[in-house]
Amino acid sequence: MLVTSRSAAEYRAMFDLYPGGSFLDCCAGGSSFAAETPDVIAVDPAYTMGYAAMSRLVRAGLVDGDRMIAAHQDRFEWSWYGSVSARAAMRLSAAELFLADLRSRPSHYIAAALPDLPFASSSVDVALCSHLLFTWANRFDEQWHLRAITELLRVARREVRIFPLVHQATGSPVAFLDHLRSSLPPSELRPVPYRFQRGAHHMLVIDSQLW
Ligand SMILES: C[S@@+](CC[C@H](N)C(=O)[O-])C[C@H]1O[C@@H](n2cnc3c(N)ncnc32)[C@H](O)[C@@H]1O
Repeated sequence: MLVTSRSAAEYRAMFDLYPGGSFLDCCAGGSSFAAETPDVIAVDPAYTMGYAAMSRLVRAGLVDGDRMIAAHQDRFEWSWYGSVSARAAMRLSAAELFLADLRSRPSHYIAAALPDLPFASSSVDVALCSHLLFTWANRFDEQWHLRAITELLRVARREVRIFPLVHQATGSPVAFLDHLRSSLPPSELRPVPYRFQRGAHHMLVIDSQLW
């Protein structure tokens, strides 16, 4: 699994975010959302490896990500980024912001993995999950998703937001999405302004207060 570096601008568009509130970014990887946004805690199991190894991993993620995009441009829409080079520049800048913040504010980056998070119940307003749940449904089954989302609902006092809801690479729908939703509190498939992977136009919003 690549450790990718999405920017706060990408997070705002993927999750159609409003200003204010506290956030858990799980899985944050090399994202600069925490570096660019007040009151964000970033979580990723890769943070156990420390700054130097994380720096190598994030830089390798940029190269591998650019290579994969170049090989499969037809799988993506370019209206949001504008061009291949604009996307690459945004990711490079996000990676640099992330690495600088990881070095200067390490306490904002917590090494942990779903489905077990080391946080008290209702400790943030909103939990965000970008490009892990559903994206990797070929690796994590429905039962694992239910445990992971239940854990995010425990930690978030207002909402859990998840994007995207399709398989990585193919962009095909995840077969168990509807059945999984029937095991959760009322949830909404809400359109988002972000455009990139074909078929990925909605986030899942789940109200923690109904949990
Ligand atoms: C594709 S990256 C997404 C990073 C970031 N959210 C972004 O949008 O750029 C997926 C991340 O999931 C992390 N990951 C893998 N298994 C995880 C788990 N069980 N719980 C939390 N994060 C996990 C990986 O270490 C990796 O950094």
